[in-house]
Amino acid sequence: MSPKRPCVAVVGGGVIGCAVAWRLARRDAEVVLVERDRPGAHASSAAAGMLSPLKEAGEPGPFLDLGLRSLERWPEFAKAVESVSGVDVAYRRDGRLDVALEAGETDALRRQRRVQEEAGHESRLLEPAELRRLEPELAPDALLGLATEHDHQVDNRRLLRALWIAAEHEGVEVRTGVAAAGVEVEGSRATGLRLVDGSRVDADVVVVAAGAWSGHLELPTRLPVRPVRGQIVVLRTVPPLLGRTTWGPGCYLVPRRDGRLLVGATMEEAGFDTGVTAEPVRSLLDRAIRLVPGLAAAHVEGFQVGLRPAADDGLPILGRDPHVDGIIYATGHFRNGILLAPETAEIVAGIVVDDAAAPPAFDPARFADPPAPTGDEA
Ligand code: GLY
Repeated sequence: MSPKRPCVAVVGGGVIGCAVAWRLARRDAEVVLVERDRPGAHASSAAAGMLSPLKEAGEPGPFLDLGLRSLERWPEFAKAVESVSGVDVAYRRDGRLDVALEAGETDALRRQRRVQEEAGHESRLLEPAELRRLEPELAPDALLGLATEHDHQVDNRRLLRALWIAAEHEGVEVRTGVAAAGVEVEGSRATGLRLVDGSRVDADVVVVAAGAWSGHLELPTRLPVRPVRGQIVVLRTVPPLLGRTTWGPGCYLVPRRDGRLLVGATMEEAGFDTGVTAEPVRSLLDRAIRLVPGLAAAHVEGFQVGLRPAADDGLPILGRDPHVDGIIYATGHFRNGILLAPETAEIVAGIVVDDAAAPPAFDPARFADPPAPTGDEA
């Protein structure tokens, strides 16, 4: 007799929840995904889609390793989701350019190059003439560039559409417009998910992938996840002014194939407010125009605002609940949800289907309350 298929409820239809649900369904789990709005409605659509572990990690360690492993998975992940969904997710491997405009910024680029080389990835320092040959629209007084090939991007909005289609194609039941309230527990086992409308979803396993809302669910472990707002200004120029993702002081510029250019991003403690605000937008535009002066004449096409899910220590929360069986956390991906989706999906599917271990550096137990005193202590 074949073993019973695991029955899994996934909370959250962002990139992590969708990727996990799709992967679990491909590994023969029966999956219900519960999303308060519609898949990809929040941070996953507001993101810029950079797949950039070397830039985001800053130093060697488990977080960089996780990001590099996920980046390795991206070509196959993109191909698979495109072939099932029929949606082109615009996965590109154009590389990244970092630019120093002031004398005080050049040392940071040299340091960044050393860190990237220690991680096994070469990058090239570019003097002004070479820098301008590569990207002629950069500020004429740019002092130094760092070109890194091992850095990719994807159109995250297309990706979310593709993941939703792929998940449903694989048999995932997607319930939209209803929020989860908490996990139902009997003894020391999860038995399902309680929704705010009073209904419940029976499940052997609940995966919490609710992004910035993860800490609002009733769970056996307190998740210290808070929203960090990011605002992006979307510009359009004809012709495009940049060929590759470019970071300057205080901003990044991400060119899309269709002529849009994303200028990001703010990092703000603003609670759950997703409004566009004047001063941060002005500051982003000032920095972008300083880096690429021709952007002064670009058309403003719109704004993308999202709430990054940030854990207290800035690292993902990935693995089993320390007290209750059948609860798995896949949240706190902060600035890197899009990058980390393929590897997170593998890790969660490994736990659910193969009873595999999760990477210890991201263990949710780091936030668990200490066990209650037994009364035996002196
Ligand atoms: N990953 C870039 C950002 O969060 O702004």
